[in-house]
Amino acid sequence: MSELSGRTTIVVGASRGIGHGIATAVAEAGAPVVAVSRTAAEFPESADITQELADAGEAAVPASLIDRHEPAAVIVVAGATPHMRPLQQHTWETFSAAWDTDVRITFHWLREALLTPLPPGSRVIVVSSGAALNGSPLSGGYAGAKATQRFVTGYAQGESKRAGLDITFTTVLPRFAPETGVGKPAVAAYAALAGMSVAEFLSHQGPLLTPKIAGESMVDLLRTDASDVADAYGLSGAGLKKLA
Ligand SMILES: NC(=O)c1ccc[n+]([C@@H]2O[C@H](COP(=O)([O-])OP(=O)(O)OC[C@H]3O[C@@H](n4cnc5c(N)ncnc54)[C@H](OP(=O)(O)O)[C@@H]3O)[C@@H](O)[C@H]2O)c1
Repeated sequence: MSELSGRTTIVVGASRGIGHGIATAVAEAGAPVVAVSRTAAEFPESADITQELADAGEAAVPASLIDRHEPAAVIVVAGATPHMRPLQQHTWETFSAAWDTDVRITFHWLREALLTPLPPGSRVIVVSSGAALNGSPLSGGYAGAKATQRFVTGYAQGESKRAGLDITFTTVLPRFAPETGVGKPAVAAYAALAGMSVAEFLSHQGPLLTPKIAGESMVDLLRTDASDVADAYGLSGAGLKKLA
């Protein structure tokens, strides 16, 4: 996929935050983009972006959108905003929110990518979280859910290989993007836990991720030859880094 023009890319969870940055960057790189979310968003007028308003966690949505748009790439970004609080202050509903949204959406979209299947040479990228590696003690079941997204993406890669489908599945694990829906409350909660201001806390986090950097990184990844694509990458303000 070194040349993206004509390679339709579905970005699931594109109305805000990291997904909005990815949809915009991929469209600016020349791919027709289908932006999926429950609410409408504004995109640059010059960008070739078709919006599809849908709940990406509904079982029938991936089949319908994949049939209609015949994508060469699907990027799954959508996720719930975790309730940031200590374990004992969670309810089961707040604890399990990322399972019912992030994991559910990943399950339905990857299942459909294999069942349809997407065409040979196509790409599927799932946005998990650095929390999958390190835990996230203030966000209930979030870290486990994000680790499950990585496992499920690996399972899908195995099924693709077994069936000779030539679809490349990859997981990306971002660090804090402090201005977006998931990142902002997380940064505030961890800064308070550390007894620091948000600015001081962020000064210890290294180069900070933005939706623009996430978008540019995804374009690089889509342009990387399939034979060089790793199973998983960390993502920070310094860009992508292959994970062992
Ligand atoms: N920000 C960070 O620091 C950070 C760090 C690590 C990982 N991540 C991961 O990166 C992803 C994006 O995070 P973010 O901070 O950019 O989030 P965000 O600003 O809250 O945006 C979330 C996006 O997901 C969409 N979405 C949620 N549920 C959906 C559903 N059922 N159907 C369709 N779309 C849905 C939302 O659109 P609608 O509400 O319009 O449907 C929105 O476009 C998440 O998976 C998050 O876990 C973020």
